[in-house]
Amino acid sequence: MTNRITATRLGLALGPLLLAMAAGACSDSSPTTPTPTSTAPTLSMIQTQIFDPGCATCHTDVGRTPAGGLNLRPGAAFAGLVNVASSAQAGVIRVDPGNVNNS
Ligand code: HEC
Repeated sequence: MTNRITATRLGLALGPLLLAMAAGACSDSSPTTPTPTSTAPTLSMIQTQIFDPGCATCHTDVGRTPAGGLNLRPGAAFAGLVNVASSAQAGVIRVDPGNVNNS
């Protein structure tokens, strides 16, 4: 009986402390809104953040024929994309300036 009372008192005393710790953990991990450095993407951003790490292993003319006939190496991507006919889909321009829905 004595033990149970002690345990109940301990629980009552720890309750607020645990709540405070949980609240502290939440406020520590609250998300912060990232501040974009630029609102409009540029070709150089796309080149370094997408083409170089994700695409250039296949879409390169270094040591191979570019996959799909599309070279996405720095300096070559623009000429390979803009106003160039798709090799996979007849009648489609890869990047058709001003024609967002059909590029
Ligand atoms: C594992 C190799 C590989 C990777 C990585 C890769 N591709 Fe490709 N891609 C290909 C191949 C192979 C084709 C040709 C497919 C076909 O003709 O059916 C192709 C075709 C394309 C085409 C169509 C070209 C056309 O004229 O129709 C585009 C656009 C393209 N890839 C963009 C990208 C982009 C952007 C990335 C990176 C985000 C990427 N690819 C990553 C292998 C790859």
